[in-house]
Amino acid sequence: MVVLVWVLVGCLSAAVAEDPNLSSLYPPFWEDITGQLSGFDLEDGKYIINPWEFTDRMKLYKILLNKTAPYFAKYGPENEQNLLWGLPLQFGWQYTTGRLSDPTGKTTCGYEILDELCVSVNSWWADVNYFLSVLPFLAAVDSGILGISSDEFRISLPPLDESRFCYNVSDCKELVGETMDSWSTFFEYMQLPSSDFDGLLKHLWAAHTSSLEYPVSAFEDRYAYYSKQEVKFEENWSIAVEYIAAAYFPTTLNRTNSFQKGLPPRLLYDTDIAPLIANFTSLQNQVLLSLTALGDIHKLTGSSSLTAWKILMSTKFAREQFLKAFEAYLGAPTSDFNF
Ligand SMILES: *[C@@H]1O[C@H](CO)[C@@H](O)[C@H](O)[C@H]1NC(C)=O
Ligand SMILES: *[C@@H]1O[C@H](CO)[C@@H](O)[C@H](O)[C@H]1NC(C)=O
Ligand SMILES: *[C@@H]1O[C@H](CO)[C@@H](O)[C@H](O)[C@H]1NC(C)=O
Ligand SMILES: *[C@@H]1O[C@H](CO)[C@@H](O)[C@H](O)[C@H]1NC(C)=O
Ligand SMILES: *[C@@H]1O[C@H](CO)[C@@H](O)[C@H](O)[C@H]1NC(C)=O
Ligand SMILES: *[C@@H]1O[C@H](CO)[C@@H](O)[C@H](O)[C@H]1NC(C)=O
Repeated sequence: MVVLVWVLVGCLSAAVAEDPNLSSLYPPFWEDITGQLSGFDLEDGKYIINPWEFTDRMKLYKILLNKTAPYFAKYGPENEQNLLWGLPLQFGWQYTTGRLSDPTGKTTCGYEILDELCVSVNSWWADVNYFLSVLPFLAAVDSGILGISSDEFRISLPPLDESRFCYNVSDCKELVGETMDSWSTFFEYMQLPSSDFDGLLKHLWAAHTSSLEYPVSAFEDRYAYYSKQEVKFEENWSIAVEYIAAAYFPTTLNRTNSFQKGLPPRLLYDTDIAPLIANFTSLQNQVLLSLTALGDIHKLTGSSSLTAWKILMSTKFAREQFLKAFEAYLGAPTSDFNF
């Protein structure tokens, strides 16, 4: 079990980019969008944020990254060590791999030139990501860290399933109160003079895993739109995130990019069986294989493997040893770790 998680995280850490050009690490459109509320359209005195448009959701992340930058400055230059990078980079990966397009194929959402930036409400990935983008944004508004007030903007509704989402602070506290609280805890902790990197990781991953609970069960009906292999990946991915969270994977700009090199570069077809998927790198094939193995073990042990893993990873020393051993094993640099 432990070995499998090692393989998983290890594979993901192996491909640390040797690219000193930070620009090449940013998610799509990052440098073309503004990180301010004034970058949204104004209507009746309120900025209209449409999370069903790729660049609008990305703008929320840019605001978050920009406003939290001061709290990560002591860990490295250029906001590179900001742990919130994991979120826009994952969203960017979803976009470039076609995972935000309408999987039913009944609309052009996410496909044609004119509709390329459309984020489909039918997409499982887009629905889950809503709770990892709009949610942290609203919690950050609520905590005051953004200097933005709730009256300044409005979140647009999706074309369907309105009641499964939430659109403002009070609404979201009602739908997913615990998740809002866990994000608030993260933003409050960040502002403490005594906050440290390990503590930030702990609170971030607590908020991240909490964010998945509701959407992973609320959007199970979306599985019907995907191939069997993609569904397995979606399910096993949600499980793997729990293990990665317990190991406090540092979601910095560099690390997350390396991590994503191991993820499938397109939607999976029914015929895609790892480790023999043509046109996937061996890393991508290995990662899929490890995810499957991890998902199987998790199921077989009735999730007690996760409990065991959490106990194992419960000390900073163990997490350090785990990540370092892997780096050493793979001969990858360890210099961009901050414990
Ligand atoms: C990101 O990683 C690359 C390659 O490992 C390194 O050269 C660069 O300095 C890193 N950037 C930061 C800001 O740590
Ligand atoms: C960095 O990469 C970006 C995009 O790949 C490119 O446009 C830019 O010119 C590069 N900058 C440098 C200094 O190499
Ligand atoms: C945040 O945004 C302001 C205003 O656009 C800009 O001057 C600043 O450099 C940004 N900070 C970071 C870390 O991106
Ligand atoms: C928040 O959203 C709910 C549901 O969309 C709405 O009924 C409520 O009036 C909104 N509250 C505020 C303060 O805008
Ligand atoms: C692999 O890539 C080649 C060239 O781009 C393409 O012709 C082929 O159909 C791809 N194979 C699969 C299984 O996607
Ligand atoms: C994970 O992958 C395995 C093997 O492909 C599959 O049997 C299982 O249903 C997937 N999902 C979960 C939740 O384990």
